[in-house]
Amino acid sequence: MSFLETACKAAKQAGKMILSQVSKEMATEKKSSNFDVVTEIDKRSERMIRSCILESYPTHSFLGEEETYVSTQPIGKTLEDARNIPYLWIVDPIDGTANFIHGIPGFTVSIALACHGELVLGVIYDPCRDELFWAERGKGSYCNGDPISISTVERAVDCIIATGFVSTSEFREINIASMEQIGKEFRTIRVLGSAALHLAYVACGKLGAFWEYGLSVWDVAAGVLLVKEAGGMVTSTEGETYQLPNQNIVASNVKVHPTILNCLSHYPLRSIE
Ligand code: IPD
Ligand code: CA
Ligand code: CA
Ligand code: CA
Repeated sequence: MSFLETACKAAKQAGKMILSQVSKEMATEKKSSNFDVVTEIDKRSERMIRSCILESYPTHSFLGEEETYVSTQPIGKTLEDARNIPYLWIVDPIDGTANFIHGIPGFTVSIALACHGELVLGVIYDPCRDELFWAERGKGSYCNGDPISISTVERAVDCIIATGFVSTSEFREINIASMEQIGKEFRTIRVLGSAALHLAYVACGKLGAFWEYGLSVWDVAAGVLLVKEAGGMVTSTEGETYQLPNQNIVASNVKVHPTILNCLSHYPLRSIE
């Protein structure tokens, strides 16, 4: 089985399990704050994905949001750390845990593979709509087997942009503040509850763009590749080319990118870092 087939199989298996648990009683734990929670299903999903991947590729490294970090080398906050790792799987076992807990559609499984710090594969599965998005470096982006591409809209006012609410309060504040400028330029803003889903929707042209401060690498790794392979652009909120593991990102159909960066220039990050 190829890397892509393995990732798709893992994402679908986990997604179906997650869907079967919606609206059931489940244990929920607080993580870093009241905004940051995890359920037993997030952990079960991560274990399922980890087993599927490491059974096929026992020498690979695996980074999951909830409980797993399997590697002979540490991954830190710099690109250099990721560059040392030949095969690093980066997994968000449920992206959109809050939606999942409240029974709202809009949660996904996100699986990416980085080779020496370069994203080579991204898979995002939305079990509620049975939509499987994938991209391989240099081979384009797909949804359920059909090629997808970014929106061709030219003007911000003609497209929808999405964002989210991170659990870290400083980043949450800057994100909320930045909605004021962005909201003046775009048709409307949506918060669907899963960064991975937002990126998949930028890739297939439903959304014109997405921005969010304070994300984690597992929220965006797969989606970044999907957007790029679909013809889109991904940068930091300050306009630098996206590199693992940037936390503050803007993804778009290219055309509306300058408008977003211009809006975000009103909110300097220096006060947070
Ligand atoms: C969250 C979702 C949400 C985003 C948060 C993420 P989680 O991930 O992607 O859309 O706004 O920043 O933390 O915790 O549900 O995996
Ligand atoms: Ca989380
Ligand atoms: Ca996430
Ligand atoms: Ca998660």
